[in-house]
Amino acid sequence: MRIALIGYGSVGKAFARLLESQRKRFPFRITAIQTRKATAYDAKGLPVSPAWGPAATVDEFLDVAQPEVVIEITSLNPVDGEPAISHIRSAFARGIPVITANKGPIAHAYSALRAEAAARHILFRFESTVMDGSPVFNMVQQNLPGITIHGFSGVLNSTTKIVLAEMAKGNSLAAGIALAQEMGIAETDPSYDIDGWDAAAKTAALANVLMGADVTPQMVERTGIADVTPAHVQEAAAAGFVITLVSRATRQPDGTLRLSTRPERLPEDDLLANVDGTSNVLLLHTDLMGTQGIISVSPGVEQTAYGLFSDLVDIAKQL
Ligand SMILES: NC(=O)c1ccc[n+]([C@@H]2O[C@H](COP(=O)([O-])OP(=O)(O)OC[C@H]3O[C@@H](n4cnc5c(N)ncnc54)[C@H](OP(=O)(O)O)[C@@H]3O)[C@@H](O)[C@H]2O)c1
Repeated sequence: MRIALIGYGSVGKAFARLLESQRKRFPFRITAIQTRKATAYDAKGLPVSPAWGPAATVDEFLDVAQPEVVIEITSLNPVDGEPAISHIRSAFARGIPVITANKGPIAHAYSALRAEAAARHILFRFESTVMDGSPVFNMVQQNLPGITIHGFSGVLNSTTKIVLAEMAKGNSLAAGIALAQEMGIAETDPSYDIDGWDAAAKTAALANVLMGADVTPQMVERTGIADVTPAHVQEAAAAGFVITLVSRATRQPDGTLRLSTRPERLPEDDLLANVDGTSNVLLLHTDLMGTQGIISVSPGVEQTAYGLFSDLVDIAKQL
């Protein structure tokens, strides 16, 4: 199966390595890659470090590559989700299924993209947009039939967890960001992690997909961790509390949805405070299944790559 990647940073390279490791079992080949600066093609399959040529437009790229699946993994733009939304539409216009780890399109245009994909009978998958490769959307869709989700609470941004853990040791915000960048988990622009945009985009994406909302990250009440200091984190720890960036969705009595992402001071035995390192946790509050939790223990960029791979395996079965 011919696969084209749009974006080739930490996630793209981890995905290419994963496909190499699984080549004997799964005949997937990355035959084209487009980044902001360069393009690479090889119909026989590209190596993890390909030879690059000059960048084409995405439309030219897709016309040359003729892929069977497009994977959109460009940088997050939490303001309007572009140009990733247009990349996805360019693939749809050619009848090509799309997988993305980029939460921008799901946070800004999920209902429109879903309708466009359905009208053209094209598969569109996005499991790794929230909680890396953990099954969140697929679990609800495939394993919780008939459920209504009333709300959710979660710790969804790994970079702020690493930064706050560094602050607990007395290290600076900048040192925490540098560590998250070294681990390949920070956004291209790490201020999107620190200012809560990544978590707000995930909150909007979850609300759009799981709760039928039509919201954007701008509609999430958002406070980041820029004003949290090592002293705050250490004082909280001494008193038995943990400061962490929490995302919440609550259905109000009048039916409206209240969405927030903000640093919260939680008792250290709170489930949301009990996931170390890059670990994430999401609690779904449902009508028929009580509260259902998903915990991802120490995910890295390889787990994001697995989320793309799981969507790809699933799409391959249906083509
Ligand atoms: N890293 C994680 O752990 C993780 C987890 C879940 C989801 N995600 C999501 O996955 C996506 C990729 O993350 P990453 O960590 O791989 O980012 P990254 O390392 O910063 O790489 C971003 C890639 O996107 C390319 N790009 C940016 N704008 C583009 C455009 N207009 N056209 C074509 N290519 C463009 C960049 O090209 P140049 O190199 O030429 O600039 C680069 O290859 C993001 O949306 C992120 O939110 C990441």
